[in-house]
This record gives sequence, C-alpha cells and structure tokens, in this order.
Amino acid sequence: MMNRHISFSINAKPVTFQVDARQSLLDLLRTHGYASVKEGCGVGECGACTVLVDDVPIDACLFLALWADGRAIRTTEGEARDGKLSQVQQAYLDTGAVQCGFCTPGLIMTSTAFVEEHKGQTNVSRHEIRRAHAGNLCPCTGYEGIIRAVEKCLNEKETGDQGDAPACACDLPGETPDP
Ligand code: FES
Ligand code: FES
Repeated sequence: MMNRHISFSINAKPVTFQVDARQSLLDLLRTHGYASVKEGCGVGECGACTVLVDDVPIDACLFLALWADGRAIRTTEGEARDGKLSQVQQAYLDTGAVQCGFCTPGLIMTSTAFVEEHKGQTNVSRHEIRRAHAGNLCPCTGYEGIIRAVEKCLNEKETGDQGDAPACACDLPGETPDP
C-alpha cells in the first residue's frame, strides 16, 4: 500500500490528509464526515457522488483522492453561508425538486456549477439544462422541479431571501438518513 500526504481545500477550508494511492475522493470525503456526498453506483453512472473540483462537477467515486492535491473541492455542506441556504439549495425547495433526496446533494452541485457558468445569460434552453444534468440520475422527480429550480436561479437578479439554513445540508426535507 502506498500512502501520500495531500493538501487541498474542502469548502474553502485547507486540509491535509494521508491517503492510500487507490482511495477515491468519495471514500476520503465520507470517511471525514462529508456525508452529503452519496455513494450510489460507485462506478460513475448515477452522479450521486458529484462534487465540484475547481468549480467543475466530477464523480467523486471515479476521482482518486490523490488528484485532489492542490485543488478546491466543494460539497453541498459548504454551499449554505451565514445561516442562509445557497441560491440553488433554496430554489430546489421552492420548486419542489426534492423527493427522496438521495440524488439531491449531487444534483445541487451540478446545478450550482451550471448556474455559475450561465449567470446573466438570457437564452439558456431547457435542453441545455437537461443535458448538463444528464449525469445525475433521479428516478423520483421527473426532473421538472430541478429544471425549474435552475431556471429560477438564472432568472433571479439577486440571491434574495434564501431562508434559514438547515444544521446540515443533509437535513434538507426529503433527504434520507445516511446509510
Ligand atoms: S456513486 Fe459515483 S457516479 Fe454513482
Ligand atoms: S432519487 Fe432524486 S429525489 Fe429520489
């Protein structure tokens, strides 16, 4: 077994870990309490493990922890700020985009990257939104609420009142208990 020390940031907090060269970022994050990052398929098909690496959505189950060295990782836990849900988190609640919630943390990160990339653009089509979320499987919602949430964010000028943040993003209504 080969171990190495890596340093990176998780939700803007600098961290250093000793990791096994074969360990996935998903395993590392969950081992250290980032329980919003879900393990679904474990093989890059469901998107439940989606996190942002330097603001780009990736499947953490396919991403070696070693590759995080020097990068900035974002998970749903870090999106609520100063007691307020992020714009995307609040939009998911407002549009009814959450049912069982297992897919929700990963989808929120995909939506967050999409909204940040397309902010201020007025001509974003539903097709583009659907395509951007194609890597995140959700058998519950039919995606309508999710698409409406992204459209709502793109159409909002300001983040506005985003409500009180839950103690943890995992406490979003409809979220299943962590396995
Ligand atoms: S758990 Fe990573 S894509 Fe399914
Ligand atoms: S899997 Fe998406 S809400 Fe249930």
